[in-house]
Amino acid sequence: MRIAISSDHGGNNLRREIMQLLDELNISYEDFGPQSADSVDYPDYAKPVTEGVASGEFDKGILICGTGIGMSIAANKIKGIRCALVHDLFSAKATRCHNDSNVLAMGERVIGPGLAREIAKVWLETDFEGGRHTRRIEKISELEQ
Ligand code: RB5
Repeated sequence: MRIAISSDHGGNNLRREIMQLLDELNISYEDFGPQSADSVDYPDYAKPVTEGVASGEFDKGILICGTGIGMSIAANKIKGIRCALVHDLFSAKATRCHNDSNVLAMGERVIGPGLAREIAKVWLETDFEGGRHTRRIEKISELEQ
């Protein structure tokens, strides 16, 4: 599995926590920054991650900003991206099982690093259930046409 990850300035600390988790889990990733604490615009950092996932270069993406909201809105503008904004473990599992979400968004100002790490771990390790959910994913794709 290959992961693309980025944040804005509001998500820098949590991004580093999640990269540490990825190291611990031996999951390879590419870090799309930012590399300084300067204020940046989250769509600029959502773009390379989501385009990389949509193109198949990466299997999944992780986006972090202050709330996770801006990143998730931006990510879902990209064709083929199903970005889930998640701040609880039930949703982390459900969005993989039911929505086959390929990008996870979280907000550093919303949850602490311990819960965020657990959410990312569950999200990374849960498979899509398929079945009736496949039809629903296909209908989402039709909305993009
Ligand atoms: C930046 O201040 C903040 O607006 C951003 O990190 C994010 O929360 C936007 O949705």
